Amino acid sequence: MPVPHIQVILGTTRPGRFSERVGDWLVDRLGQRDDLTVELLDLRDHPLPIYELDVAPARAGREYETPEVRRFGERLDQADGYVVVTGEYNHGYSSSLKNALDHVFPELHRKPITFAAYGQVGGARAVEQLRQVVVELEMAPLRHAVHILPSVLIAARQLDPFTIEAFAELDDRLAHATDDLVWWASALASARAEG
Ligand SMILES: Cc1cc2nc3c(=O)[nH]c(=O)nc-3n(C[C@H](O)[C@H](O)[C@H](O)COP(=O)(O)O)c2cc1C
Repeated sequence: MPVPHIQVILGTTRPGRFSERVGDWLVDRLGQRDDLTVELLDLRDHPLPIYELDVAPARAGREYETPEVRRFGERLDQADGYVVVTGEYNHGYSSSLKNALDHVFPELHRKPITFAAYGQVGGARAVEQLRQVVVELEMAPLRHAVHILPSVLIAARQLDPFTIEAFAELDDRLAHATDDLVWWASALASARAEG
């Protein structure tokens, strides 16, 4: 079996977003490992209208209604596991991320997902909501995640010029979450391959 392919999904899209800084750190650290391959998936590269599909993705499968959804779905299909990066918006995760998740289903089915979140409580409330939502997509949300608290968040936001070393104290935490993600991604890829 090849090593699992992991997508780091930037879950926020506004100008000046913090998620880019976190995404750069994740891609750097995951890119240094030889037990996975990694790529960045930026939701800005997959703009979708507010959900207006005729048939729910769980029923439609890969019968895509629009080229934009097909492109997004085919991109997600390439990964064995995901790390979603999100801030907290009114104790939830970003609406752009919810809209994107609602457009797909089979692409994410039986794959693991973990999270790198930031905010007043490290994005914990957003992550708890995400765990509930991705269960409906029949994903495996993982226990281990990265939470960036204000002690690191504020310094990393203000750093000019920015360097990903702003997150270095979270490297061990990220390594632990990634070890777990790789285990699940490999196990579930084998199980999916066996049908
Ligand atoms: C409408 C709105 C609601 C927010 N609610 C929360 C919140 O509930 N908890 C929190 O920690 N931060 C909250 N914030 C701060 C955001 O998490 C912060 O701006 C973060 O950088 C947003 O992610 P982004 O920069 O990647 O877009 C909120 C910001 C906005 C604009």
